[in-house]
Amino acid sequence: MIEVKNVKKSFGDKEILKDVSFSMYPGQTNLIIGASGSGKTVMMKCMIGLFKPEEGQILYEGQDILTIDPKEMKEIRKQIGMLFQGSALFDSMTVEENVMFPLNMFTHDSFAKKKERVNEVLTKVEITDANRKFPAEISGGMKKRVALARAIVLNPKYLFCDEPNSGLDPQTSLVIDHLIGDITREYNITTVINTHDMNTVMESGDHIVYMHKGQKQWEGSNKDIIFSEDKLLNSFIFASEFLRGAKEAKIKEANLKKLS
Ligand SMILES: Nc1ncnc2c1ncn2[C@@H]1O[C@H](COP(=O)(O)OP(=O)(O)OP(=O)(O)O)[C@@H](O)[C@H]1O
Ligand SMILES: [Mg+2]
Repeated sequence: MIEVKNVKKSFGDKEILKDVSFSMYPGQTNLIIGASGSGKTVMMKCMIGLFKPEEGQILYEGQDILTIDPKEMKEIRKQIGMLFQGSALFDSMTVEENVMFPLNMFTHDSFAKKKERVNEVLTKVEITDANRKFPAEISGGMKKRVALARAIVLNPKYLFCDEPNSGLDPQTSLVIDHLIGDITREYNITTVINTHDMNTVMESGDHIVYMHKGQKQWEGSNKDIIFSEDKLLNSFIFASEFLRGAKEAKIKEANLKKLS
């Protein structure tokens, strides 16, 4: 479990994160949602130790990474997998070399063993026969899957994904969402996903933190969203008239069920 407690982060005199607290749970896809500029990426960067908040605590199984010594931080880093905005594969490396990169960095395994692990995770994300291809030779959806394979190759305990669906069509997005969800449950990973993709929210929102202008505005699950009366959340999620109608229909249906 990761606990964020009273985190404040500014750049110059601009307050970006204003006293934010929440927990992220193992075996769940924990989403951070919110409009562009609401502070999702800054929050994630604080959580992985790339930015240092001025105040607050970020606890990994009770250990505060803001006060921990560098050696212990290195141990936690090893347990973190990351999938950044864009897929951020190394263009000059093949698919296989990309996925093997963390193994070369962090293990002393034999080449044969590393190759076996690479093939194992590539199979997991349903990529076969592409080991020798370069990123430029595969589609956007495949790139994301390769990046996901690279993020999980070291068996992370924590997985951070910043906009894993950006630039993908809705169906390919769902494939990525389901893969992340399956991997999260299978390995009991504490997964944190930044997104403003409504399909992801409704499909994979086991636990959702909604950020508005650097503050936590709402917290709940995808099931709670339909019944939430939070005005800001509603206008963010159900932005179109069509979606507002769908929400009202769902509420009506639930009320009828309660009566019968
Ligand atoms: N390194 C930085 N220096 C100064 N300001 C920054 C820096 N990084 C982010 N900000 C500011 O922090 C605010 C929140 O940015 P952030 O990238 O977290 O938004 P976001 O919610 O991830 O948006 P998006 O959905 O567009 O990715 C923005 O106003 C941004 O300009
Ligand atoms: Mg962002």
